[in-house]
This record gives sequence, C-alpha cells and structure tokens, in this order.
Amino acid sequence: MKPLNFKAWQTKVQAQTEMALNRFLPSETLSPEILHQAMRYAATGGGKRLRAMLVTAAAELGRYDEIALSQAIAAIEMIHAYSLIHDDLPCMDDDDMRRGKPSCHKAFGEAQALLAGDALQTLAFEVLSQENQLPYAQRLQSLRTLANASGSLGMAGGQSIDLSVVGLLPDLPALENMHALKTGALIRASVRLGALACFDVADDMLQKLDDYAADLGLAFQVVDDILDAQADSQVLGKTAGKDAENDKPSFVSFMGINAAKQYAHDLCQRAIYSVQNISADTHILQEMARFVLEREN
Ligand code: IPE
Ligand code: IPE
Ligand code: MG
Ligand code: MG
Ligand code: MG
Repeated sequence: MKPLNFKAWQTKVQAQTEMALNRFLPSETLSPEILHQAMRYAATGGGKRLRAMLVTAAAELGRYDEIALSQAIAAIEMIHAYSLIHDDLPCMDDDDMRRGKPSCHKAFGEAQALLAGDALQTLAFEVLSQENQLPYAQRLQSLRTLANASGSLGMAGGQSIDLSVVGLLPDLPALENMHALKTGALIRASVRLGALACFDVADDMLQKLDDYAADLGLAFQVVDDILDAQADSQVLGKTAGKDAENDKPSFVSFMGINAAKQYAHDLCQRAIYSVQNISADTHILQEMARFVLEREN
C-alpha cells in the first residue's frame, strides 16, 4: 500500500481520534448529564490532535496493537483536554475562548468545568487500564508514563511554576524547564505511549524517540508563545496576547520574536536529526517537526 502523504495521514488520525474519544467518553444522556456534556464539549470536535498524531506516528514505526493505540490516543487527548479546561479557569489564565468556542467554564460554569477536568483525568487512566493484547508489564509502563507526565513532575508541575513566575524574569534554564514540564512532558509521553503500543518495542528506539520528543515538546511551547504574541485570536481559536496581559514570562518576552523563532527552528532541526538514524521510516515524525514549526494555531 502506498504511504499516505502527511495531510491525508493527519486527516486519518484526526478522524481516528474523534472515534476513540467518542467510544470511551460516557454518553451525554448518561447521568450526570451536565458533567458528561462538559467532558465531551472540551474533549471532542476540536484541536489539532498533535498528541494523538505523535502517538500514532510512533506506533506506526512498529507492529502495534490496534486497541492499545486507540486507548493511548484517547487517554492522552483526555489528559490534554483536562489541562486546557483548568488552564483556562479564572484562577489560572482566565481565558474565555478555546478551540474557537467559549471555554468550558464559560459554557458550563466554573464548578462543572473543574469537575469535567477531574473526570477526564481519571477516565484517561481507566481507558489505559482496559484490556488489550499487550503484555501486562508494558501496559503498566504506559500507565506510569502517563501518570508521571501529568503530575507534579510533569504537566501539573509546569503549570504550578508558570503561575508562580508571573511578573518575574526567570533565566533561560528556568524558562526551558517550565516549558518542558507544562507542555513537553505530555508530548514526550505521547511518543512513548505510541512506542509502548507496539509488540516489538526496543530500548534504543525508545531513547531516540525520547530525544526527538523532548526537543519537539519544547519547540511546541516556544511556538505557542510566538503565536500568542503574533497571531490573530480568530485564527488561533483562543485569546491572543494573553501572556503579555497576564505578565507571563515567555520565550518572546525573554529573547524577542526573531530569536524565539530561530530557537524553535533549531530545536525542530535537532528533533529531526534524532529520528533520522532510526531503522524505520520516520518521515511522518520528521513532518511532525515541520508541522510544529509552521502551524498557525
Ligand atoms: C495548547 O495545546 C496548549 C499548550 C500546551 C501550548 P494545543 O495547541 O495542542 O491545543 P489544541 O489541542 O490544538 O487545541
Ligand atoms: C498551557 O500553556 C499548557 C498547558 C498545560 C495547558 P498556555 O497557557 O500557554 O496554553 P494556551 O496558550 O492557553 O493554550
Ligand atoms: Mg497557561
Ligand atoms: Mg493558557
Ligand atoms: Mg499559550
């Protein structure tokens, strides 16, 4: 079969992500309806599905279990959606728009949005713990990967740092660490979960993929900072200018737009090098690095 070009592949993964989420999320008609509606509102029907794409691209390097792949896709996108709900709350970034529509708390109220985030988080682990064909030890590794990436040493920790440095001027290592945690951790976990959905996962491959994902994850948040400073809210689907408005230190405030663009470019280039010497077809992962750099929202 002829390999899909990147655009067609992306469309395929986006559709598979929607299917996986629809399959694992409780129905909107199941009680408590309001909570299930809020969970679905935040998790389905939007987003670039970058994390799902990374899970899939890594899985497609090997011989993967179909069910494990759909579980990993749903789980990572649920954690991501939960992180966005909480990130937008008035006590955090106070953002009224997400994915081109009112943020979850604007649509459902703060308390239900908070709970939708909580419930998406626990559902992610429930989904990942469901049966599939992989060995138990590998499935435990997937659970631990997602837990570590989401918690105080990963995304939640990065978000905590992000809130504690408002108005301050962290140095470059501190800024890199914050970005690597708040955004990079889930991106690294995406790639690892994809590899762990395979029957034939090898340690040296995991290492090269992790080198790739660490650079890509940091680049992703650098580009997010650039877009926040430069893009139009309509194109972005979220409120532009939020970092400056909230006095958040970002790569743009730290080094200026041009240096930030160069930095993101260099990180993506290094990510590409990391996967070029994997003995499998990594062209999709390389395209993903270009996608991260060139994205407009
Ligand atoms: C936004 O992530 C939040 C960050 C971690 C920077 P995405 O840009 O991947 O958001 P969606 O999923 O496409 O909406
Ligand atoms: C948030 O970073 C990262 C998350 C863990 C959600 P930002 O606060 O910059 O994300 P956006 O710009 O609101 O999407
Ligand atoms: Mg934030
Ligand atoms: Mg935000
Ligand atoms: Mg941002």
